[in-house]
Amino acid sequence: MPMTARPAVHVTESETAAQRACEQRIARMPDRPKTYHVVTYGCQMNAHDSEKLAGMLEAMGLTAAPVRDEADFVIFNTCCVRDNAERRALGNVTWLKEVRRTRPEMMIAVCGCMIQEPGMAERILKQYPFVDLAFGTSNLHRFPELMEKVLVTGGRVVAVEEEDMIAEHVPVRRLRQDAAYLTIMYGCDNFCSYCIVPYVRGRERSRRMADILREAEELRDGGVKEIMLLGQNVNSYRGEGGEDFPALLRAVDALGVERIRFMTSHPKDLSDGLIAAMAECGHVLPQFHLPVQAGNDEILRRMNRHYDRAGYLDRVRRLRAAVPGIGLTTDIIVGFPGETEEQFLDTLSLVDEVGYDSAFTFIYSPRTGTAAAKMPGQVPEDVATDRIQRLIALQEKRQREMTARFVGQTERVLVESLSRRSDRAVSGKGEHGISISFPGDSADIGRIIPVRVTGQKNNTLTAERTEA
Ligand code: SAH
Ligand code: SF4
Ligand code: F3S
Repeated sequence: MPMTARPAVHVTESETAAQRACEQRIARMPDRPKTYHVVTYGCQMNAHDSEKLAGMLEAMGLTAAPVRDEADFVIFNTCCVRDNAERRALGNVTWLKEVRRTRPEMMIAVCGCMIQEPGMAERILKQYPFVDLAFGTSNLHRFPELMEKVLVTGGRVVAVEEEDMIAEHVPVRRLRQDAAYLTIMYGCDNFCSYCIVPYVRGRERSRRMADILREAEELRDGGVKEIMLLGQNVNSYRGEGGEDFPALLRAVDALGVERIRFMTSHPKDLSDGLIAAMAECGHVLPQFHLPVQAGNDEILRRMNRHYDRAGYLDRVRRLRAAVPGIGLTTDIIVGFPGETEEQFLDTLSLVDEVGYDSAFTFIYSPRTGTAAAKMPGQVPEDVATDRIQRLIALQEKRQREMTARFVGQTERVLVESLSRRSDRAVSGKGEHGISISFPGDSADIGRIIPVRVTGQKNNTLTAERTEA
C-alpha cells in the first residue's frame, strides 16, 4: 500500500449548491412522494448515512412515516460485510414487492455498501424490477439529483462511481438529540484479507479539521451531550495540515462537549500519543473498542492485520496503565480459512487473558473479491459454529468477572431509552461504555444521571439512582 495519503477530494461549493437547489425543486413538485422511511443495516457509518438521507428527504419536503408499508418512498441502506447482512437486506426488498402490489405508487430505492459491489446495482435492477433507484456509498451526496431524475423521467436510475469524495454541508436529520455521530474520516486502506469494506467504502480520506470542529461546535451549541467520532479507522485520521488523531481528539476535547467517544480504532495505529490523549482529555470517555480478530500470530498474519498477539497485549497493558479501569471491547472472527483447533485455542486464551467487557463475535463469511475468499482450507460450518459457541461461553464468563468491578461504583449514565424489560426502568451507557439499567421514566431520556451499580443481570449492569 502507498504510504502517502492522496489529497482529499472535496465536493465543490457549486456542486453542493446544485444539490440543495434540487431539493428545493423537488419540494415544489406537486406529485412528489410525501412521506419516507429509511431502513438501515450495518454499522454506525451506515446509521449516520441514513441520518443524511433523512436530512435530504426532509429538505425535499417529505416527512418521516413511522411504518414503512405506509411510506410513499422507502429506501434501504444496505450492508454487505457478511453474507447474512446481505441476505437480510435483499429479503426485505423482496417483501416490499408485495406491499407495492397494493400501493403501486410507492417508490423504492436501494443504496449503501452492497450497491458498491461489482455488478450488484445491475443485478438488483434486473432481479427486482420494482426498484426505482440504486446508488452506492460514493453517490450519497448526489441523492437529490438522482431523486429528481427519477421523478422527472419516471425511469429507473442507477449510480455507482469509484470516485472517493468528501461532501460537506449535507443536511442531517439526527435520530437522537442528546448523542450524535460525527464522521471524521471515510473509507479504509487496510485491506484485511477477509474484509469487503475497502472495496465498498473506497480509499481513506479525512475531513478537514476545521470542518470537524465547526460541526462539533454546532452540536455542542445545540445541546448534544455526547459525540461519537466515526471512521472505519478513526485513529488513522490525517488532517490537511498533517494533524493526527490525538491532535484532533485534544481539539474536540477543548470545545467542552460533555462526553466524547470514538470508533473504530485499528490496533496497529494505537500510538502512545493516543494513549496519552485518552488519559489527559477530561471529556474523552474511559472506553476503547479495539478489534483483535484472532489470538494466533499465523492467522493474524494471513488476515493482514499488521500486529501480533504480543504487540496487541502490550497495547492493552499500556492503555490500562494510562486509563485505569478503562472499558475494553473487541471484535473476533472464528473459522478464518485454515484456522486449526490449536490456532482457535489461541483466540480463546487471548480472550481469557485480556478480559473484555464485551465482544462482538462473528463466524468468518467469505466475501467475493477479497483475498481470503480464495484461500485454501475454508472451515466447515459445523466446526465454525462449535467454535463460536465455545468463544461466546468463555466471553460471557469473563464479561461477568470483569464487569463485577463496577458493582458498588458510581457511573454517570446517558439515558437512551426505557428499559426493554420494564416501563418503570431506563437504560443507557455509563462512561465506561457498559449498558446500565435503573429505575426511571421517559423524562430521564437524554439526561446524564449518576447511579450506583448494584448488580449484574444478563449482559447489563443494574443500578440505583444516587444524589451525586
Ligand atoms: N473498521 C473496523 C470495522 C470493520 S467491520 C475494524 O477494522 O475493526 C466490523 C467487524 O466485522 C470487523 O471487526 C470484523 O470482526 C467483522 N468482519 C469483517 N469482515 C468479515 C467477514 N468477512 N466475515 C466475518 N466477520 C467479518
Ligand atoms: Fe475491514 Fe480491516 Fe478496514 Fe476494518 S481495518 S474495515 S476489518 S479492512
Ligand atoms: Fe456494513 Fe458497509 Fe458498515 S459493509 S459494516 S455498512 S461500512
